[in-house]
Amino acid sequence: MRNRRVLKSGKIDFFRAIAFTALFAAGTGAALSQTMDQTWLRHGYFHGLPPVPMHVRALGHEPVEKTAVNEIINGVDRLFGSAPSAGGSKASDAIVVGTVQEFRSAYRKLNIPSELSPEAFWIAEKDFGGKQLLVVVGGSERGVLYGAFALVRKITTAGWDPKTTITEAPAMPIRWTDEWDNANGTVERGYGGRSIFFENGKVRDDLSAVGEYARLLASVGINGCNVNNVNGAAPFLTPEMIQGLKRIADAMRPWGVRLAISVDIASPQKIGGLKTFDPLDPAVQAWWAAKVDEIYAQIPDFAGFTVKADSEGQAGPASYGRSPADAANLLAHALAPHGGVVLYRAFVYNNHLDYNDLKADRARAAYDIFHPLDGKFAANVIVQIKYGPIDFQAREPVSPLFAGLEKTSEAMELQITQEYTGQQRHLVYLAPMWKQMLDFDLRADNRSTPVKEIIAGKSFNRPLGGMIGVSCVGRDGWLGSPLAMANLYAFGRLAWDPNLSAEQIAEEWTRQTFIQDPRVIATVTRMLMQSWPAYVDYTGPLGTQTLTDPTGSHYGPGIEGSERNGWGQWHRDDAQGIGMDRSVATGTGFAGQYPPQVAKMYESPATTPDDLLLFFHHVPYTYKLHSGQTVIQYFYDSHYRGADEATQLGEEWETLKGKIDPKLYEDVRARLEYQAGHAIVWRDAIVQYFLKESGIPDAKGRAGHYPGRLEAEDARLAGYKVIEVTPWEDASRGKAVTCDASSAPKGCSAEWTYTGKAGRFDIAVQYFDLQGGVAHFTLHVNGTAIAKWAADARLPSRRPNGDNSTRFTARGPDGRGIELKPGDLLRVDGTPDASDPAALDYIEIEPAASAR
Ligand code: GCU
Repeated sequence: MRNRRVLKSGKIDFFRAIAFTALFAAGTGAALSQTMDQTWLRHGYFHGLPPVPMHVRALGHEPVEKTAVNEIINGVDRLFGSAPSAGGSKASDAIVVGTVQEFRSAYRKLNIPSELSPEAFWIAEKDFGGKQLLVVVGGSERGVLYGAFALVRKITTAGWDPKTTITEAPAMPIRWTDEWDNANGTVERGYGGRSIFFENGKVRDDLSAVGEYARLLASVGINGCNVNNVNGAAPFLTPEMIQGLKRIADAMRPWGVRLAISVDIASPQKIGGLKTFDPLDPAVQAWWAAKVDEIYAQIPDFAGFTVKADSEGQAGPASYGRSPADAANLLAHALAPHGGVVLYRAFVYNNHLDYNDLKADRARAAYDIFHPLDGKFAANVIVQIKYGPIDFQAREPVSPLFAGLEKTSEAMELQITQEYTGQQRHLVYLAPMWKQMLDFDLRADNRSTPVKEIIAGKSFNRPLGGMIGVSCVGRDGWLGSPLAMANLYAFGRLAWDPNLSAEQIAEEWTRQTFIQDPRVIATVTRMLMQSWPAYVDYTGPLGTQTLTDPTGSHYGPGIEGSERNGWGQWHRDDAQGIGMDRSVATGTGFAGQYPPQVAKMYESPATTPDDLLLFFHHVPYTYKLHSGQTVIQYFYDSHYRGADEATQLGEEWETLKGKIDPKLYEDVRARLEYQAGHAIVWRDAIVQYFLKESGIPDAKGRAGHYPGRLEAEDARLAGYKVIEVTPWEDASRGKAVTCDASSAPKGCSAEWTYTGKAGRFDIAVQYFDLQGGVAHFTLHVNGTAIAKWAADARLPSRRPNGDNSTRFTARGPDGRGIELKPGDLLRVDGTPDASDPAALDYIEIEPAASAR
C-alpha cells in the first residue's frame, strides 16, 4: 500500500497520467469485456499514484455510508491499481465520509457547510490538526453516497485537485427508472434480455444483478426504481409477491434506491375478492389502506405506486364515472401516512379514434383529461407525463400538459429503452432530444417556464416532481447494447442536473466507459451526438414522428401502418400533401393547448419550426420550408443524408480499431454495420413511398433509381418464388423471393449476369432475416462461393418486411473488393430453415469501399 505522503508530491503525476494513458490505450482489453459490470463504473486505468489519501472512513454506521466507503475504495483501486484501506484513525490522512450531523459531532472545529439538503453533498480537502482530510459531507446518508460517486467520477474524468470544492444538490426529488417487467420474466419493450427481477411468476432467487443495477442507478443519482410493468400489474400485490418484493427492496437499499411498483387500480376486484374497485367505495378504500400497510410492514422505505388506468385496455376509474384524480387520491391517501407517493400517468387516451374525423386527435387527450383536474390531486400525487403528446416518438413537440398543471406536481417520463428509436439495434443517443424537451420554454403565464423548471417544482412552487426513465433493463448486458448504456447514464445525469449539456454528458460517459485516449473520447462522443439527428433523418423527419406501424413491432418502416387505424399516430399523407392540421383555426385545436406565445408560434406554418411542421400542419409536398427547400425534396434529401450518416457512424468506429478491447470493438462494429444497412431499408421505404404518393421526382435523381441494384424478382430463379411484400414499400419495388422448404428442400437460387463495367466492387445482398429458423446464404461469382452467412439475428416479425430486411455486404479479400467484368455470373443460394424461407430482395453492386 502506498502512502499518501508520497502521493502528495505525486499529485501532478495524476494530471500527467491523464496525458500518458493514451500510451496504454491498447493494453486494457481484459477490463473491457462485457460482463454484468460492463458499464461506466468500470473506470479507465491511470498509471500513476492515487492523488487522494489512502484511508477511507465513514463516520456513520448506515449501510449506505458503508457503500460509499466501498465505492471510493473500489474506484481508486480500479483507477490506480492500489486500494485505500477502510478505517484509519484520526491520526492519519484520510478520506472521511459522513452526514452534516456526523461531522458536527466528530469534527466540531472543521469548517463545513452548516446545512445541506438531504441528497446534497459537499466535497473538499481540509487541513485538520496537520492531517489532510478529504471530506465528503452529505445532507443525508444518500447524499454521502452521491458524493462518493461524484468524487470517483471527478477523479476519472478530470482528475482531483485538492483545491477543488464541489457542492451539488439534485434539481428534483423524484428520479426514478420504471422497468416494465412481467412476473413471467419477460420485459415489455425490453431489448436487453429477460428480467433481472422476476421469473416464473415470482421474484428470482438470485438477485445479485438487482444489487448491481441499484449501484449503477445510484452512481448517477437515481433514487427510485419501479420494477414491474404498468400493464397487468394485479399479481404484484399478492402476499407472496410482496414477500419477494421485500427481497428486491433489500437488495437495492444499500444504494439508497427505493422500491416502487405499478398497481392495477382494479386490484380490489381482481385479487381482493371485492365486487367493485370504485375509488369512492369505502370498502375499496379500506382494501387499499390495508394493502399499503401490508407493504410497509415488509418494506418500510417503500417509495410508492405508479398507475396506468383507462388506457390501452387497463381498467380505470372511468368504469364508475370517476376521474383520474379520484383514483390517484384513493391510493395517495393510503400511502400518505407512510410517506409514499403516487405517480399517476397522464398517458390516457382513446385508441379507437375515427381516422375519418379530421378533428379527432390523440395528441389532445392528456391535456383534455388532466388540465381540468388541476388542483384536485392530493399533495403526494405526481402526474407523470410523457415528454411528447403521442408516445416516445423520434421527434415530437413537448407535451402542453406541463404548462397545464400549475397546482399539481409533475414528472416527465422519458424512454431509455429505445422502443420507437431503434430498439438498441440502432445507436441513438437520446440526450440531445431530451435536452430539447427539458430546455423548451413553455412561457406559461407569459413568463419563462422551461420544462426542466416546471418538473423541478420551481415554476409553480410545487413540493414534488422529477423525471422518470423507462429503462427495461435485462440480463443481457442491461440494455443489450454497449453504447446504449450512454442513455441510462444520461438520464440519471439530467435528472440530477438538467442544465448539463448532452455533449458534456456524452463525453463524461465515454471517459468513464472507455480508456482515456483523446481520440477514443472525441470519436465516441461525436458518434453519440450525431446519432439522434441521423435517426430522425432516416426515419421520420419534419415532425412526422417515427414512420413505423404502431400496431406492429414499432421498429422498421411501416408508413401506411400508422394511418387508417384507431391509434392516432397519423401523419395524414395523400397525393397532394402530408401532415396533421392541429391548428385552432382549421384543425384539431391541439396547438391551442399551449400557453399563448407558444400556441401562436405553432398555429401557423409560417412560424412553426421546420422540424415540427408536419406535426402541426397539413401542407402540399411543394410547400417551401424556411430553408427554401420543398417538403418533398427535404424528404428525399434527409433520407439520403441520414443513411449516409448511419454509414459514417460505422466508419468512425472503425478508426478506433486497436484502441478498444477486440471483443467490444467487434460487437459494436457489427451493430453499426447492421444499422447502416437498416438505415438504407428505412431510406428506400420512405423515399419510394413518397415518390409514388406525390408523383414528384427527386431533383437529385436518386429516388427510384438504384444503379447497381439487381432485383431478386428479375433473376433467373431456381426454386425461389416471387412474392408481394407487405407493406409494399418495405421491399425494393415491393417484391421479394422466398424459398419454400417443402418444395425446394435443398434450397433455392437466384442468378444474374453482370453487365456493368469491369472493376472492384462490394456486393451487398439484401435479404429478410425471419424469426423461427436460421436460413443460410451463399454468394457465388462464376460458380465460386465468395461469402457465406447465416440469417441468425433476432429481429421482429415472421413475415418479410422492413423489420427484418437485412444487408450483408461482401467486400472481398482484405476488404479490397471483388473483381467483376461484364458477363460474370452472380448467384445467391438460399437454404431455408423451419419458418425462415431465406427470402431475398436484391443484390447491389457498388464501387469497393476501399476505392471510394
Ligand atoms: C407504449 C408501448 C406500450 C406501453 C405504453 C405505455 O404504447 O408501446 O408497450 O404499455 O407505451 O407507456 O403504457
